[in-house]
Amino acid sequence: MIQYKAFIASSLDGFIARTDGSLDWLTSDEFTLENDDLGYSSFMEGIDCIVMGRITFETVLTFEPYPFGSIPIYVLTRNSDYQFESQHPIRIFQGTLEELDSILLGNQIKNAYVDGGQLIQSYISKSMLNQIIITRIPVLVGSGLPLFGDSHKDRKLKHIQTSTFSNGFVQSEYHL
Ligand SMILES: NC(=O)c1ccc[n+]([C@@H]2O[C@H](COP(=O)([O-])OP(=O)(O)OC[C@H]3O[C@@H](n4cnc5c(N)ncnc54)[C@H](OP(=O)(O)O)[C@@H]3O)[C@@H](O)[C@H]2O)c1
Repeated sequence: MIQYKAFIASSLDGFIARTDGSLDWLTSDEFTLENDDLGYSSFMEGIDCIVMGRITFETVLTFEPYPFGSIPIYVLTRNSDYQFESQHPIRIFQGTLEELDSILLGNQIKNAYVDGGQLIQSYISKSMLNQIIITRIPVLVGSGLPLFGDSHKDRKLKHIQTSTFSNGFVQSEYHL
């Protein structure tokens, strides 16, 4: 079975970006931590591929330099006309999460990083997300794109560990 894992930052009131997609509240200078990437590189060491929502993908394309090197990325979209050509190992995928799971299994993928709020919600709603590491940023932004959406039923998570950082970030790992 593939382990699907999310590693994401959210405001204290539960938003991953402002409504226009901006991340200024997350990247502001006051939160700079010298020589500490909040466990991101150690998380990425265990990742074989990234499954990414189309909106997050379009944000990533604005990053310079391109941050994911040779890691394969599957970009999820429901738009059958969506196309993208790249020198990087990026594939556009228009099928279901279950269909993608079969493809990834066939490619010997063991650990996949799920990125993007709506996509994380899709994985949770299908009970396919195994782990989430949430870094809470001590700021209330009031409105924006939510990490979690409406749910028809309660979903209990198992708390694994919580770390605090000198800049006020609080990072918790949960298993689902
Ligand atoms: N704070 C953080 O750590 C963090 C991390 C990641 C991203 N972000 C920010 O969050 C924003 C994007 O997040 P988001 O929640 O709006 O969107 P998202 O999950 O990145 O992308 C949503 C899109 O992905 C596709 N999609 C999602 N679920 C799908 C499914 N089950 N099957 C097929 N396609 C699916 C759809 O694309 P189509 O519309 O093309 O059909 C959907 O509109 C960006 O601004 C990004 O910068 C922040």
